Amino acid sequence: MKKTLAVLEGDGIGPEIMREGIKALRTIEKKFDHEFVLEYAPFGAASYFDEGSPFPDETKALCDRADAIIKGPVGLSIEETKKIPQESRPELGAILPLRKRFNTYANYRPVRLPKSLASFSPLRDSVVGEGIDILMIRELVGGIYFGEKEEGTATGMKYARDDCIYTEEQVRAIGMVAFDEARRLGVKMTHVHKSNVLATSRLWDAIIEDMAREYDDVEYVSIIVDNAAFQLVRDPTQFNGVMLLENMQGDILTDQAGGLLGSLGLMPSACMGPEKGYVEPAHGSAPDIAGQNIANPYSMIGSIAFLLDKCLGLKEESDALWNAMFDILERGYATSELASEITDPKNVLSTSDFGDMVVDILSH
Ligand code: IPM
Ligand code: MN
Repeated sequence: MKKTLAVLEGDGIGPEIMREGIKALRTIEKKFDHEFVLEYAPFGAASYFDEGSPFPDETKALCDRADAIIKGPVGLSIEETKKIPQESRPELGAILPLRKRFNTYANYRPVRLPKSLASFSPLRDSVVGEGIDILMIRELVGGIYFGEKEEGTATGMKYARDDCIYTEEQVRAIGMVAFDEARRLGVKMTHVHKSNVLATSRLWDAIIEDMAREYDDVEYVSIIVDNAAFQLVRDPTQFNGVMLLENMQGDILTDQAGGLLGSLGLMPSACMGPEKGYVEPAHGSAPDIAGQNIANPYSMIGSIAFLLDKCLGLKEESDALWNAMFDILERGYATSELASEITDPKNVLSTSDFGDMVVDILSH
């Protein structure tokens, strides 16, 4: 297969974890006899400082013609971010416009920790039990992040407003993604919402409940978001299966899920639209550890595994990448943020060590 892929390395640890992701991708390309044409383009805060825009026109044009997009994390420290005007910051000026451009409404964030890796989690082994295996599906182009925003002063008092709007069409589309995945995987589907307070959540709850009747072969659970946050820490495996969340609630609970696993470095993601998708780690650019070769590249390599499967339909290639990464971790290796007193110091891997091991496993 020949495909053109846009590569947006991003900021902070972006370039170094991307390097390992691309190493893994090149190994897959050779092993399975594909041709991936990789085209790099600026995106994010560095792009703003170098090119005057966090999402320059040439990058947009490249993304338009590419078959899929591989994006690294973007952003700067809070102090550095303040040097950029609001609308040109990586979040509002690059990530949200990228999502909007390709209408990537379906965000897949897997939360996987087999029993054998329970020591990574801050939770007790007994709580991790037989292992965590949740596929969080977050609506990504609607709700409060995309609603109209206003900041003003009225009768001498400052105020601000963020509109949260969802339509039936949007909810049905993402509901279908979640129910189809649950059906395909043969697992239950949990819908998370705040229908006891929010009108948008009531709409979601009514539509998803209605759809549950159409998907009567899929076990369906409905839960209020604050309770879900509590239950996720107390007994996460009760949610094994698919969890469906609206945009903001999904943003928050997917980071909490990274906490359950012991590291956001274990959180890859795929963002799928009707025509094309892009992949990105679910975490930020970690400027505090950038350039030290200690960041965990799992989230980036896992995102590329997602791209192979979801964007290019290459399931076997994708599985080979996932298996290589789990193999490394299950053999007792860990990047520094995951290492604990039970990790042999010789088994603590740098960013590039981890990538090298993936390449090594794939090449045998
Ligand atoms: C994420 C990030 C983004 C989001 C930010 C950087 C805009 O936190 O992908 O989870 O809120 O969606
Ligand atoms: Mn987030």
